[in-house]
Formats: sequence, C-alpha cells, structure tokens
Amino acid sequence: MKEIGGFFELELDRGREFHERAFALNSARNCLRYIVRKKVIKRLLVPIYTCEAVIDALQAEAVEIISYNIKDDFFPILGDHQKDYLLYINYFGINSKNIGKLQKIHQKLIIDDSQAFYSQPISNIDTFYSPRKFFGVPDGGYVYSSGKYEKKNFEISVSYDRFEHLIKRIDLTASDSYSAFKKAEETINSDPIKKMSNLTKALLKSIKYEEVRAKRLENFTYLHRALKEKNELSISLGADDVPMVYPFLTRNPTLRESLIRRSIYIATYWPDPKKRIPTGSWEAHLVSNLIPIPIDQRYGKDDIDAIVAVVMDNLHI
Ligand SMILES: Cc1ncc(COP(=O)(O)O)c(C=O)c1O
Repeated sequence: MKEIGGFFELELDRGREFHERAFALNSARNCLRYIVRKKVIKRLLVPIYTCEAVIDALQAEAVEIISYNIKDDFFPILGDHQKDYLLYINYFGINSKNIGKLQKIHQKLIIDDSQAFYSQPISNIDTFYSPRKFFGVPDGGYVYSSGKYEKKNFEISVSYDRFEHLIKRIDLTASDSYSAFKKAEETINSDPIKKMSNLTKALLKSIKYEEVRAKRLENFTYLHRALKEKNELSISLGADDVPMVYPFLTRNPTLRESLIRRSIYIATYWPDPKKRIPTGSWEAHLVSNLIPIPIDQRYGKDDIDAIVAVVMDNLHI
C-alpha cells in the first residue's frame, strides 16, 4: 500500500523529464551495454578519442573494438567497415551537424550523446545520454533504442549513497566535496545495468530545462565571441546543439594549470592511462591541449569575463 503522511522527503519540483520517452537506466556506460546486448553487437567501430568508461563497458561485454580516428572537425575517418556498427560521440554537444552527415553514409550508427543532453535522437538510431554531465544529479542514463525495451529484468538502482558531494558542495566548497565526488563516481563503474533510481528521476523532474538551455547557449556564444580568434577549432553550432562546455584548443602548456590555480576547474578529455592514443596524433593533441571551459547554468557574463581575463593574461605571457 502507498505510504501516506509522516516526515517529508527532500522537496523538489514535480515537473517532467526531458527524455520522457527514453528508457531510464543508471549510467550512460550501462546504456551502451544495454544496446550491445539488445542488438547482439560483436564488433564495434569506436573512436580512439573517448573515455575509458566506454572502453571498459565494451570490454565487459566482450565486444571487439575497431578503433577509428577523427578529423579536426571531429568527423570520423572511416575505412571499409560499412557492415559494422559505428559508435559516434557528439563531442562537447556541438557536433550534431556531423551526425546528420554520418547518418547519410553509415547505416548502423550508435550515438553517444553523453556530452549532448539536449540533442534529440534520430529515429531508428540507438542513442544514449548521461544527465549528470549537465545537471547536479548523482547518476543516471537515458537510452533510445529501436525495438521493444526489455524492462522487466532490471532492478531499480538506489542513489542516496551517492548524494553526499551534491549537497556538500552547497554547504561547503568543491574542494571540500571532491573526495565524496570521487567515491560516488567509483561506485558507478561497478554497478551492473539497473533502472534509474527514484531519487535521480525525481531530481531530473525538477530541472528547468529551457532556462538551462538558454543559459548554456548564451554563455557559450559570449565566450566564443571573446576567444574564437585564439581557438584552433572552428566552431559552428547546429540548430539542435546545446554545449556541455566550450572546447578551447591552443598550444599553451601552462593555461590549464593557470586556470585551475584561479579555481576555474578544467577537466581533461580524456586521460589515456593505457596509452591507446598514438603520440603525435590529432587525438593526442586534443588530450594534451584541449581546455574544456565551463559555460553551464551556474554562471553568467561576469564569470565568463573572469575566465577570459585569465586566458588572455596567459596567452600574452
Ligand atoms: C563520451 C562519454 N560517453 C560515455 C561516458 C560514460 O557516462 P556515464 O558516466 O554516465 O556512464 C562518458 C563519461 O564517463 C563520456 O565522456
């Protein structure tokens, strides 16, 4: 019987999820594993510029990985592999135009929209998402896959024990909460495929998606106007693109450290602990020199101005 009364749970808005029609799971890597099982994929074309979580998920499913390179516009360099499934990453949430082109030349596509939460799926193309790259939620993944979802076999995940860093950062600082964040991330890696937890779902129903979209686009455009002349990447957003970060590519070996020293936290996409990426390749250049600058909904023009000041200061040294 439904529980009624007693103490209150965390009070959240009771809105709607953005990806209401998707199958909601516990992480993006598990969405990929789900697709692999559902489509019985044995071999997969995978970009060498990717995160370890993707490689680990595929290895856990005993998928043979055929690596491919990307060009400086993030478009795949493909050999004669038309019959194989191809995994394409919508890098930084700014590559929907590439997906449009790819769709015309490759039949069996899987789209990794982990960095492109707002990108709509294309019908009959399996696509997955990782909401916590865009919002303060502990875990979760959404997958769209053609054919019926086998929903019954999976238990429902729980996330309350992955929540500490999210609330701690409100009370304290990012550095105070970092070890809790790392701990939470480690537990995601070891979780089998499960349905999204009630907690993550409730949080994802409380987000003002259109406000976030507008803010991200505004910040990105403002930052691009300031940095585009210095950026090795030539960027033009597609109609559907809502960026995760602003990718700034420059051969400046001290910029990342300078930003971090000013408490502007810059991730590395992606560390390459197993040395999969050849030295001297375009992808190695991206790993070393791409600075993903935050442009998310927490920030506004003053913050972007502060970031630009550090970047300019550093580039002029
Ligand atoms: C491109 C990409 N795909 C998939 C993943 C895995 O997402 P999740 O952590 O939700 O499993 C990540 C990050 O870890 C990623 O960067």
